[in-house]
Amino acid sequence: MFELNGRVALITGATGGIGGEIARKMRAAGATVVVSGRSIEKLNAEFDDSYIKIACDLAEDSAAEELMMNTIDAAGKIDILVNNAGITKDTLIMRMSDEQFDDVLNTNLKSCFKLCRAAVMPMMKNRYGRIINMASIIGVIGGAGQANYAASKGGMIAMTKSIAAEVASRGITANCIAPGFIKSPMTDVLPDELKETYLKQIPAGRFGEPTDIANLCVFLASEEASYINGQTININGGMGRF
Ligand SMILES: NC(=O)c1ccc[n+]([C@@H]2O[C@H](COP(=O)([O-])OP(=O)(O)OC[C@H]3O[C@@H](n4cnc5c(N)ncnc54)[C@H](O)[C@@H]3O)[C@@H](O)[C@H]2O)c1
Repeated sequence: MFELNGRVALITGATGGIGGEIARKMRAAGATVVVSGRSIEKLNAEFDDSYIKIACDLAEDSAAEELMMNTIDAAGKIDILVNNAGITKDTLIMRMSDEQFDDVLNTNLKSCFKLCRAAVMPMMKNRYGRIINMASIIGVIGGAGQANYAASKGGMIAMTKSIAAEVASRGITANCIAPGFIKSPMTDVLPDELKETYLKQIPAGRFGEPTDIANLCVFLASEEASYINGQTININGGMGRF
């Protein structure tokens, strides 16, 4: 396994299925891990005192800047940023309200933009940085009923390529992971018939586990991944071959 000794990682959405596993794997690889989520009670219940816990609601306007400031105050620096927090508000476009569109764009894309912006300067100073943005297969191929979510994740992919072009010469990488269908609270709520339909489209014959995503995160965060930049890495059991 790759090691992250001496590195500081901030993971958003760490109280979720995928974020929690990323946090635990990065901690096991030796990083100082700052976990962030909306509820401090949930953070305290899920993580022991070897983690730094910061609650914040990324839908709020100044939350991202404050989260980055508090992370650097608490941990001394930022080496690894995992923008993993995300929501869905699915409905057909003819019924989608401005609010449903804005909520998803603000939480998934704008907070990611703000955290990347806040991280780049301190990472440049350290001449080391790893930005990992959690996109989605839906951001690559689209999805019925998910115009807002697809826009947020597709935007994230294009934004990450642009960031990579700006920072690659400074020891910083910026990449996306695009998961397919991963077992988590986000997908647990889907109707069984829909899950069956998805399962039929997955050549691996199973849904992904959060650990399938977390393993790649540890690698992308490591020294060894320094030449992977501006990419979107699909993890989907062969569901999408593009
Ligand atoms: N599960 C999947 O199949 C799948 C597939 C593709 C992409 N993704 C992406 O992976 C990421 C993690 O998803 P998950 O499956 O673990 O879902 P999840 O619902 O378990 O976790 C989402 C996390 O985001 C946090 N979050 C949501 N809104 C927030 C806000 N306003 N401020 C701060 N935190 C907020 C939640 O508290 C939670 O911790 C998301 O960005 C999701 O879009 C998931």
